[in-house]
Amino acid sequence: MNIESMLANKIQKVDKLLKNYLTPNSEYEEKIYEAMKYSIFAGGKRIRPILMIEAYNVLNNYEKAVEPFAVAIEMIHTYSLIHDDLPAMDDDDYRRGKLTNHKVYGDGIAILAGDALLNLAFEIMIEGSLQNDMKLGLQAMKILGERSGVHGMIGGQVIDLLSENREISIETVTYIHEHKTAALIHAAVEVGVLLAGGTKEQLEKMKKFGYYLGMAFQIQDDILDKIGKQEILGKSIDSDEKNKKATYVSFYGLEKSKEQVILLSKKAFECLNYFGESADFLKQLTKYLMDRNY
Ligand code: IPE
Ligand code: IPE
Ligand code: MG
Ligand code: MG
Ligand code: MG
Repeated sequence: MNIESMLANKIQKVDKLLKNYLTPNSEYEEKIYEAMKYSIFAGGKRIRPILMIEAYNVLNNYEKAVEPFAVAIEMIHTYSLIHDDLPAMDDDDYRRGKLTNHKVYGDGIAILAGDALLNLAFEIMIEGSLQNDMKLGLQAMKILGERSGVHGMIGGQVIDLLSENREISIETVTYIHEHKTAALIHAAVEVGVLLAGGTKEQLEKMKKFGYYLGMAFQIQDDILDKIGKQEILGKSIDSDEKNKKATYVSFYGLEKSKEQVILLSKKAFECLNYFGESADFLKQLTKYLMDRNY
């Protein structure tokens, strides 16, 4: 099977898991669930849950314990996209091939749909922890809480906003990328290894892999904002230019940014050698993401 078909299968599996957790309890909850499901099921590459499950599979192939966490990370990521697109942030009209959440439901409901997905993510992880190994569950939640919060994704989004329209250093661009994007990606693979009972050394190696992959992923995102096709990408293009964002492309230009993606992807790939053949799928995925046009 080629990587595209393997990914399509894995996406389908993640979507099936997500469906189990998105049912309103009463009529009053229908609107907010509709808005949450609108963005969750609009599409999306499902890279974070797939990375988590596949990192888990490197050590262990019984996936049940990782499933609630895989669902949770996709909910956290989707909430961050809904908020990222709001007029007060990047003010974008398209996401995952459809109008952005606030364009359909209005700013208020979009803010609440994002909040609700974040909250639900933690409810699901708590329930998952109660049903499995509680200590590992708490450790996983600590990682996801930190990496998506002020010390991670939110922290990166703050500096991303504060850096609009400003001349900034490459250290600041790197800080933004490390926090707004790489943090959740290394959290994904680290949690996978943690729940599979990985050793400290295995955790460190996998986190390093996630760091390089996450950095390459965001630089590729910056490149695609500039040269991607909206029909393929599914989201507004030229958004960074419009908002005068600090990106790798604005700092280094396209060619050097492309070189950087290749270099970081190679580093990510090398980290996986430590795990031998069991990391073959993650290696294929790393190559695939480096060349992606969506
Ligand atoms: C977009 O993430 C935001 C970034 C951190 C670059 P993805 O490119 O993973 O978006 P979806 O989930 O596929 O829509
Ligand atoms: C956002 O980065 C990363 C998030 C945490 C949502 P971008 O603003 O570049 O993401 P896109 O390009 O809108 O997906
Ligand atoms: Mg943004
Ligand atoms: Mg954006
Ligand atoms: Mg972008």
